[in-house]
Amino acid sequence: MRWSKFINFYEDQDSTILFNSVTRGVNKLKTEHVSKINRYLNGNLQEMISEEMKDAISELYIDEYIVPDTYKEKELFTKVRRDRDQESRIVMYFIPTFNCDFRCPYCIVSATDHDCMNPQNVISDLETENAANWLIGYAIDNQIKNVTVDLFGGEPMLGHKQNLKFFKKLNELKDRDIELEYNMISNCYNLSEQNLKELKSVGLNSIQVTIDGPKNVHDKRRIRSNGNGSFDKIIQNIEMCRDFGLRITIRINIDQENAPHIKELIQYLAERKFNEFVSIGVAPVDPPIDDLNRTGHTGKVMQYVPEIFQTLRKYHFNFRMWETFCGYGTKNFFVICPDGTLYNCPSYAGMEGYCVGDINANGFYPDRPGMHEIPDKCYSCSLVGVCSGGCYFMKNVHDLGEKFCMKPTHSIMVKEYILAKYSDS
Ligand SMILES: C[S@@+](CC[C@H](N)C(=O)[O-])C[C@H]1O[C@@H](n2cnc3c(N)ncnc32)[C@H](O)[C@@H]1O
Ligand code: SF4
Ligand code: SF4
Repeated sequence: MRWSKFINFYEDQDSTILFNSVTRGVNKLKTEHVSKINRYLNGNLQEMISEEMKDAISELYIDEYIVPDTYKEKELFTKVRRDRDQESRIVMYFIPTFNCDFRCPYCIVSATDHDCMNPQNVISDLETENAANWLIGYAIDNQIKNVTVDLFGGEPMLGHKQNLKFFKKLNELKDRDIELEYNMISNCYNLSEQNLKELKSVGLNSIQVTIDGPKNVHDKRRIRSNGNGSFDKIIQNIEMCRDFGLRITIRINIDQENAPHIKELIQYLAERKFNEFVSIGVAPVDPPIDDLNRTGHTGKVMQYVPEIFQTLRKYHFNFRMWETFCGYGTKNFFVICPDGTLYNCPSYAGMEGYCVGDINANGFYPDRPGMHEIPDKCYSCSLVGVCSGGCYFMKNVHDLGEKFCMKPTHSIMVKEYILAKYSDS
């Protein structure tokens, strides 16, 4: 017997927290017991093992923290990936427009050739109708039980009327007992009582909004097209979303510029009692296609991660783990663009050479690429359950090849998340 390769060990005073990145199991043992188990697993059978320790080892075996020597991690994780292809659930991104009224300097979308500054670049009414009809047909043909739609962009609120039309039409799936979940990933600047009322009436469940620091920091990163900041309006709009009963996630993108100031942002949000209704996700800035140096994946940025998670804990925020569990090429994971073309991933959406279908030409092309291979080294990595070989887009567009590894980022992001969630101190 041995420890599963998927286990991560985190010291917490005289205890050790065990985290299995694939099963997502979390367990806590006295560190002296972990040492005893190590000696036992290393064949030191002379040592007296108490009944209590034997029970603990059996439990760890049942929950797959400890596994037989013959256990094949590669097969297990291959199955986990393949199972996603069998799911009777669609997760799709609807992009009504690539246009955006913000000019965030790190934006992954505007760095690619998407005509983001052209207000005419919005999906037509006819194309919206076609997109919804195509999706309804796809869901029925594939015996889908659950459809999750994320409005994406550009800025999805610049296609508000089309979003309403899309959701209204899609709601016909309810008559077929298909569950619907509607989310919007938005800069949350263009919200009003009226448009929130409309979005609620067609079934919007949740919103994800980005805040990148306290006002003076955020306003230099989440910049409106006229050069002004956006902080005050976004804060007010989040409170309005709360009043409409939407679930709200605040995303914080960190890099060298803003990481030192995130603690201050969290304190501010707690003062406004946002800890009573929002959930927070912290993500390192991925280098956009035109600037490999603008990145949150560095030691200089990661040094602030413990402080950020501890502050979230201190103020009783609900917070999430950062993951790169890539859905690229998974059968029921895809994106519909404003011109009706289909893509495997929102980061590739609209990029030449990556189109995988067209709703106006029989949907997916027969040669749609499936899930990409991940390097062999990943199958025995303790973090593969949260990383899954990393972001395929980032790896590809920056031509990082086999040497690409997210371990320096994931190991800190996961460790600090787990300690902030499960530590006793
Ligand atoms: C491209 S935006 C589109 C939706 C909307 N305009 C917004 O900003 O939420 C989608 C998400 O990507 C995030 N994002 C943009 N550029 C990024 C980057 N370089 N690294 C990490 N996240 C990024 C944004 O913070 C947002 O949560
Ligand atoms: S608001 Fe969203 S789409 Fe617009 S520039 Fe910022 S990150 Fe990009
Ligand atoms: S890319 Fe690195 S961190 Fe991610 S699964 Fe592979 S080896 Fe692990």
